[in-house]
Amino acid sequence: MSELKNDRFLKALLREPVDVTPVWMMRQAGRYLPEYKATRAKAGSFMDLCMNPELACEVTIQPLERFPLDAAILFSDILTIPDAMGLQLRFAEGEGPIFDKPVRTEADVNNLFVPDPEGELKYVMDAVRTIRRELNGRVPLIGFSGSPWTLATYMVEGSSSKEYSKVKGMLFDRPDLMHKLLDTTAKAVIQYLNAQIAAGAQAVQIFDTWGGILTPRDYKEFSLNYMQQIIDGLTREADGRKVPVILFTKGGGQWLEAMADTGADALGIDWTCDIGKARERVGDRVALQGNMDPTVLYANPDRIREEVGTILESYGQGSGHIFNLGHGIHQHVDPEHAGAFIKAVHELSPKYHV
Ligand code: CP3
Repeated sequence: MSELKNDRFLKALLREPVDVTPVWMMRQAGRYLPEYKATRAKAGSFMDLCMNPELACEVTIQPLERFPLDAAILFSDILTIPDAMGLQLRFAEGEGPIFDKPVRTEADVNNLFVPDPEGELKYVMDAVRTIRRELNGRVPLIGFSGSPWTLATYMVEGSSSKEYSKVKGMLFDRPDLMHKLLDTTAKAVIQYLNAQIAAGAQAVQIFDTWGGILTPRDYKEFSLNYMQQIIDGLTREADGRKVPVILFTKGGGQWLEAMADTGADALGIDWTCDIGKARERVGDRVALQGNMDPTVLYANPDRIREEVGTILESYGQGSGHIFNLGHGIHQHVDPEHAGAFIKAVHELSPKYHV
């Protein structure tokens, strides 16, 4: 494999010295880019795009052609695992994801299985291998998965949800069933992420998008506990380099100490916590990734730059900060504003690394 030309993202994840603060954006390949929309139209549907390694590679690299990002993230989706379990995923125009066979009964839970990452999910591993080849060492490639709890919300609800009545109904009425679902899903995630690492992913992120809707007790029992199992089961070194793990619970600001206890290398934080205070709480146990409010990108470039400066100042001196948005970039953001954001991080951060 080729030498990494820019490894400041991997270094910052391990809190090793860097020249400037590295930056990438969650959902950096996506609908705010006209070139993404063109490739997606060529592919047919979103899932066709995910299942075509050449096109998935093309859209992964598109944002890097525009902006000097410090990492690439695999173009795929967290819902590939439940799809491979037979739940039949489709994306209806304007409605988001839908599972035609959601998990509602004991029999449905018993039918779940751990998909073979080089079988049903081979298209994802092929995408990882293709992207690594095409990146040719330009920046590291991030692999990812949903957390078992976040996957469960879609598997049980059958779609995106506002109230989570079905998945929380199962959690409260049949915790045994919910644990069985989460246990199978955690095993699937471990195999899936380890296969991504074997295929070339150089860091991995666990997206716990819906951990923040749980009570503190339920968060530990039904979400964090399974992310702990995943972290314990992951390959942590490949090609003579550490493979850092990033844990991102949206709305998880009150649980950072517990999240740091899992042994993750870095925590993703959303914009509802102050990154300086978060740093005081986790000390030097983990790096922090985040956390600009994605809607700041609707403001003018000077305002964006000011906000970047405030967050850099709040984190303060030294390594261990990976700049990002607090959640994915919105589809109606002007790409030039994303460019102003990335430029501001690189221009304003050197003084924190002297
Ligand atoms: O970050 C990246 O650029 C990598 C690609 C990526 C996608 N989805 C592409 C995508 C990643 C990391 C994801 C993760 C994902 N998918 C999450 C967790 C991250 C988060 O945002 O908290 C979740 C919850 C999903 C499930 C999912 N996929 C939903 C709810 C939707 C619909 C969203 C919408 O706005 O309609 C998707 C579709 C999806 N995944 C798109 C992209 C670029 C848009 C699809 C399109 O082109 O129409």
